[in-house]
Amino acid sequence: MEEFLNKLPTSVSKTELLRILQEFQDKYGYLDNDFIHELSKKIGIQPGKIFGIASFYSQFRFKPSGKYIVNLCSGVACHINSSENLINVFTKLTGLKDGETSADGKITLELVPCLGGCANSPVVKVNDKYYTKVTKADLLKIIQELK
Ligand code: FES
Repeated sequence: MEEFLNKLPTSVSKTELLRILQEFQDKYGYLDNDFIHELSKKIGIQPGKIFGIASFYSQFRFKPSGKYIVNLCSGVACHINSSENLINVFTKLTGLKDGETSADGKITLELVPCLGGCANSPVVKVNDKYYTKVTKADLLKIIQELK
């Protein structure tokens, strides 16, 4: 973390702050409390303000995520195509609700408002891999592959 912080300027715009937060999360997986406080000292912005800005954006995480981040879309197009059933099946089989990570640290469930594939809904994403027109059978197969 120290090496990451040393490369940063002492004053940043909001856009630069978002880029820094994204870079840190890409590298370390989430924005931990220590990082936010050290960043605050470095750039002179109160930790609460940094948390406030970061928490506005759904892509930022404040706790470690699982090896597999499963995004189930809960947007309108997916909802029309039964995404709620997929969410219920996923929760029933894994015991995970939105934002939770399995005890073994393998799977994190995150519901998202749209994955950009509305025409092929419902859409599921696991890390960088997209699954479209997902059926219950497809979801069961996806879950099996994660275990
Ligand atoms: S609403 Fe699900 S991909 Fe857009």
